[in-house]
Amino acid sequence: NAIYYAGLSGMQPTWPVDYATLKTRAEAAMPPSVLNYVQGGCGDEWTQDENARAFRHWGMVPRMMVDCTQRDLSTQTFGMSLASPLFMAPIGVTGICTQDGHGDLAAARASAATGVPLTASTLSNDTLEDVHAACGDTPAMFQLYTPRDKDVAASLVSRAEAAGYKAIVVTLDTWVTGWRPRDLNVSNFPQLRGHVLQNYFSDPAFRRLLAKPPEEDLRAAIGTWGATFGKVLTWDDMAWLKSLTALPIVLKGICHPNDARRAIDTGADGIYVSNHGGRQANGGIAAIDMLAPVADAVAGRVPVLFDSGIRSGTDVIKAVALGADLVGVGRPYSYGLALGGADGCAHVLRSILAEADLLMAVNGLPDLNAVRAAGATRTDR
Ligand code: FNR
Repeated sequence: NAIYYAGLSGMQPTWPVDYATLKTRAEAAMPPSVLNYVQGGCGDEWTQDENARAFRHWGMVPRMMVDCTQRDLSTQTFGMSLASPLFMAPIGVTGICTQDGHGDLAAARASAATGVPLTASTLSNDTLEDVHAACGDTPAMFQLYTPRDKDVAASLVSRAEAAGYKAIVVTLDTWVTGWRPRDLNVSNFPQLRGHVLQNYFSDPAFRRLLAKPPEEDLRAAIGTWGATFGKVLTWDDMAWLKSLTALPIVLKGICHPNDARRAIDTGADGIYVSNHGGRQANGGIAAIDMLAPVADAVAGRVPVLFDSGIRSGTDVIKAVALGADLVGVGRPYSYGLALGGADGCAHVLRSILAEADLLMAVNGLPDLNAVRAAGATRTDR
């Protein structure tokens, strides 16, 4: 109501409050190389577009005469007590989204300010220890791009555990980078000068692979990183992954119910439904359309995480209705960072949360169990 009162007295909102305006404003604010990196996807970006479009054929039916003056969006997952199911998906190279090159720290500060947990990417501009410290009291998860060198992988995971992260999110779909035409135009690619490899460059196991430290021979260090990045994981690697840590292992990129069953059989502690926002495989169906079948296969045995196409609070609630325990936002928070650093990012998260909360209020859904029980209905339009 405060917003309507402000509007009646002629005030304009400072920040965008809907995704379309956010995107347009961010497009104007971001240098083309950064914009192409964040916005770009695979091939002609059909899957990426489908991810968001597909939310439009899932609908909810409002219920009346339910007291929803108090809404409870809270959830307990992986030992994290969270005020809502929303989290920040891992976004590598986030450093380039803010002018000071420390977008990861800005995202972490937004996490501290909002209580929305961050999944810190392996490819961050700041070390995983610094990113965790900037998250303050808000818990965080660490995303692993598994290096081929097992000692480096073990070292990154044990550092994440020591730093206090609550889960290790192992991304399965990116041992090789997909066909991304916007990035293939190399002149578009942001000049990174090795900055996003801080987790490697600070890592004792990685440094042991180098003849000279990165500070003395950056080119060779990048070469070694390239040679060790991107282990092809198979089910046989699950026992090894589990042996690295006492933390829950969450598998990111699971889209098929049979893969979800196999993941749980081989020890996965969480299933993360995602198609990487359409950045890896073009031609795939929308991630949201895979969520319910996967959640059915999981049958409550482990938490189900979801991302790919979340643009609003309504999308968050639909994803919960279709079986997600935690719902990840990706590109929109990068746009928030580009527009206003930590404050811009926090604003985007708060807007999504406020819309989710209000949707529950007007749909007669006092808590997340009610959302799950209500479900979402597929429409043909
Ligand atoms: C990503 N994503 C990603 N995933 C991951 O596991 N590790 C990473 O480092 C990154 N990096 C990354 C960079 C950028 C610029 C984007 C847009 C995405 C994928 C991310 O976690 C998530 O799956 C998608 O962002 C979801 O799609 P939408 O909703 O952002 O379109």
